[in-house]
Amino acid sequence: MFDLTGRTALVTGAGQNIGAGIARALASAGARVLVNDLRAERAAEVADGIGAEPVAFDVTDRDAVLAAVEQAGTVDVLVNNAGNGGAGSMLPKRFMETEPDEWAGPMEVNLQGVLFCCHAVLPGMVERGHGRIITISSAAGTHGVGIGFAPYSVGKGGSLSLMRSLALEHGRQGITANSVALGIMDSVREETAAALRGSIPVGRLGSPDDVGAACLWLASDEASWVTGQTIGLNGGAFTS
Ligand SMILES: NC(=O)c1ccc[n+]([C@@H]2O[C@H](COP(=O)([O-])OP(=O)(O)OC[C@H]3O[C@@H](n4cnc5c(N)ncnc54)[C@H](O)[C@@H]3O)[C@@H](O)[C@H]2O)c1
Repeated sequence: MFDLTGRTALVTGAGQNIGAGIARALASAGARVLVNDLRAERAAEVADGIGAEPVAFDVTDRDAVLAAVEQAGTVDVLVNNAGNGGAGSMLPKRFMETEPDEWAGPMEVNLQGVLFCCHAVLPGMVERGHGRIITISSAAGTHGVGIGFAPYSVGKGGSLSLMRSLALEHGRQGITANSVALGIMDSVREETAAALRGSIPVGRLGSPDDVGAACLWLASDEASWVTGQTIGLNGGAFTS
């Protein structure tokens, strides 16, 4: 239904799981997809499977981000997906028991990486009068999800605030900026999934394909009136 022929999409952290699902969805709609990951072998494997191009770099390294965007030539669609999902998003203690040097890990990739990537692609989007920026956030950023997630929540909440600001600054230039805030995904351990499934109104956890479908819509021309929004994908677990 949605056609991205002629568009170039950069999906960060797309070497596995959710990012791979997003890359797959955009490629299936005809986009030229750049599959980024910190781990070159993961990016190559995903890119190979969907006829895309691997681009290995660290989204928290500003020079590397700028070099990759320059090398890409054009980026019409940026999906900020790189993040520390799963166990990496949580510190096993309350915020007051943490030390400042523990905050950087959960915050840098989820916030600074998004800042760097947006800053790098925006000039080209402004010049072309078109752009789609989509950031993968979390219920941790919109609602809070429990003890141990404070720094991760700051990163995820900060990135969705950035999308709102970019929507206001660049709406007249054909650029939209939105967030997708995810609930519990099917990559959690099976015992966790079994314990949580019953609390989700639709009765199942989210999949990479669910996220890919939402990103495909937001990346399309048909979503040109959607900007500055945070779309909750959570099976009804968090209503707004
Ligand atoms: N899995 C969940 O339950 C869940 C829930 C809510 C939100 N999210 C968000 O969804 C996104 C994807 O989550 P996931 O579960 O697929 O994560 P994942 O850990 O399975 O995959 C993330 C990928 O990003 C890459 N990556 C990490 N740091 C990077 C960096 N600095 N530069 C480039 N690539 C980097 C990793 O190598 C990995 O391949 C993340 O932003 C995460 O915070 C996940």
